[in-house]
Amino acid sequence: MRASASAGHQTAARDSLTTSRASVQALLEAAVDGIISIDERGIIQTINPAAERLFGYNAEELVGRNVGILMPPPYCDEHDQYLARYLATGQKRIIGIGREVVGRRKDGSTFPMELSVAEARWGNRRAFVGIIRDITERKRAEEALRQTNASLESAVAELKAKNAEIRAMTQQLWQAAKLASVGELAASIAHELNNPLATISLRIESVLSRTPADDPRRRALEIIDQEVRRMSRLVANLLDFSRRGEEQISTVDTRRELAEAVELVAHHLRKRQIQVVQELTPGTPDIFADRQKLRQVFLNLLTNASDAMPQGGTLTLRTAPTTMDDGRPAVLIEFSDTGIGIPAANLPRIMEPFFTTKEEGKGTGLGLAICRRVIQEHQGTITITSTEGVGTTVTLRLPVRSDANVAPIRNSVVAPDSTKAP
Ligand SMILES: Nc1ncnc2c1ncn2[C@@H]1O[C@H](COP(=O)(O)OP(=O)(O)O)[C@@H](O)[C@H]1O
Ligand SMILES: [Mg+2]
Repeated sequence: MRASASAGHQTAARDSLTTSRASVQALLEAAVDGIISIDERGIIQTINPAAERLFGYNAEELVGRNVGILMPPPYCDEHDQYLARYLATGQKRIIGIGREVVGRRKDGSTFPMELSVAEARWGNRRAFVGIIRDITERKRAEEALRQTNASLESAVAELKAKNAEIRAMTQQLWQAAKLASVGELAASIAHELNNPLATISLRIESVLSRTPADDPRRRALEIIDQEVRRMSRLVANLLDFSRRGEEQISTVDTRRELAEAVELVAHHLRKRQIQVVQELTPGTPDIFADRQKLRQVFLNLLTNASDAMPQGGTLTLRTAPTTMDDGRPAVLIEFSDTGIGIPAANLPRIMEPFFTTKEEGKGTGLGLAICRRVIQEHQGTITITSTEGVGTTVTLRLPVRSDANVAPIRNSVVAPDSTKAP
């Protein structure tokens, strides 16, 4: 009875064991993930259908082979050592952790996979079960995301660059607008001054004509007459300046113009003990330009240099043949002073209209703004370099002939200009 009872029990146990084996087998076969078990030497013991599909092998081809066959080099060669080290030292790399590795299919192609390894022990034996998931799709999605990110980043960078460009352009427009309004103001003042000046001029002429040559008052009247003429010229110049597109283009010898401009302020320069050195290279070509406007530029620059050397100094003037960046023949005109110089912080702003460091009533801050505009109208460039306490050099480059000064400009031309520290 006992025996039979016991036999019945054993049968039941065997049945249940068989059932459980069958169910494990069914589970392995149904699993979506690849499942491979290996022994302590790395020899494949079992492999489920999902793993067969993943690696492109039949179970018969793999069972009994080293699991290294499923890895690309160098991992296939390292795996045995890795396993041995784990068995000897317990040092884990994947076991119990899981990570992304690369699998090798039968045809030699590889694929990214997520591998988690569990260790099973019974008695003094152990085995390892690897669960494998193909993550090709996930990787692809990640890569796509990375690429989207990268293109987004470059789009953002592009936007930033465009933004900076627009800001620079706005700044230029703003300056042009300021200059235009200055031009209008100058024009209206000049216009208002024109009539009273004409009246004074006429009166003086008439008084002069009635004053005998030996009259002691005659000298004073002549001086007044001279000064009034000078004011009239100034007003005419101002009107000239404010009327764009009405340039009077002619052939200009820049060396002579420069020498004449120096003549005009010679007295003033001498008083300040400023020595003028003229290095006017012979062979500097004549240019087509508006003489009046050029003279105004020269006078502005001479005045600035003189203001920068209140204790005296040397002003070196140079003219020489040169070329524009695009190779057109040009004339170089340089004003180099040994004055107070310009602080680097001011350098980017000195050509802005109304920027002045001079005391109230001394400077208008318009000199360089006017210079810049005139030079731009002639499609030339103006560059200013300066070292505080050492001096300043203003370099003009004017093309011998430009579209602008051959056919007078109708619209404003924005030519390159620059200010830079040495
Ligand atoms: N040669 C120079 N040396 C030193 N500073 C200069 C020189 N030229 C111009 N500057 C600086 O640039 C400013 C602007 O010059 P400008 O436009 O001619 O106006 P203003 O002479 O009326 O001040 C000056 O106030 C001065 O600070
Ligand atoms: Mg000035």
